[in-house]
Amino acid sequence: MKILIATQKPFAAKAVEGMKEIIAEAGCEVVMLERYENQQDLIAAVADVEGLIVRSDKVTAEVIAAAPKLKVVVRAGAGYDNVDLDAATARNIVVMNTPGQNANAVAELTIAMIVFMARNGFKPGTGMEVRGKRLGIVAYGAIGRIVADVADGFGMYVHVYSRPYPNKIRLYAKHLRRDDTLEKLFSESNFVSLHMPATPDTKGMIGYDLIKLMPKGGVLVNTARKELIDEEGLMRALEERADLKYITDIAPSNIEQLQQKFGDRVFATPKKMGAETAEANMNAGLAAARQAVGYLCHGENEFQVNK
Ligand code: 3PG
Repeated sequence: MKILIATQKPFAAKAVEGMKEIIAEAGCEVVMLERYENQQDLIAAVADVEGLIVRSDKVTAEVIAAAPKLKVVVRAGAGYDNVDLDAATARNIVVMNTPGQNANAVAELTIAMIVFMARNGFKPGTGMEVRGKRLGIVAYGAIGRIVADVADGFGMYVHVYSRPYPNKIRLYAKHLRRDDTLEKLFSESNFVSLHMPATPDTKGMIGYDLIKLMPKGGVLVNTARKELIDEEGLMRALEERADLKYITDIAPSNIEQLQQKFGDRVFATPKKMGAETAEANMNAGLAAARQAVGYLCHGENEFQVNK
């Protein structure tokens, strides 16, 4: 059986090595498609594969239609909004993610972004400390929890809003408080950090009405998905409130306009880098390889998201 590893943004070489070993040991063949620029290359590469491992690569209905033998798609990472679940489900193709495997990497970037903004983008001048400040975390999943714990270590007061709340909410952070509305969380948090997936319910949910509630000097941090932000609303809030700032790992569609208008008050990484650590590549890559062969060889589907 053939498993294609298709990554526009490749895994670290060591992770690829490990993935190849896992797949070969299971008696499957590995096919590589890295750094491809054209979606047609992905469409051509899936023609005869049973398994597909991707990162943020777009597994569209067209890709699925071009893959008559495909049985499993593993998104090496958390968010699977890049996979057309309906098209996969209609063909009984199992789709999985690798939850938690890159959570620490994203959480560390989030904390780095908070400190970066508190210190004026590392430019000369007087910044502020994060100790004693309030951090609002939207969505208390694998990433949100690590951010809460680390922020607690910095002496921040952590607020959490999550829907639904995990069954057993882990309250390690000493100063953690649960907010029942997003309005409350935004209006009291000096920093707000987003950690929810992009779904029809969450797309565009953070807009003018929430952002404008932030206290003076508020910073919105987004290491999740650009689709969560109502970009017009963000623009309006930044226009009306010269004290607010936005930092993100996924550049908004209007990034040039935002940077022209607001300069250093808006910062976006040049390329999404939350999960770009050697450790996260190993964790997510190896887990994806194990899950792909686990399903193809033994029918294991623990992490299936389209059950
Ligand atoms: C995820 O959903 O796991 C992250 O956004 C990482 O995405 P990436 O694999 O494209 O870096």
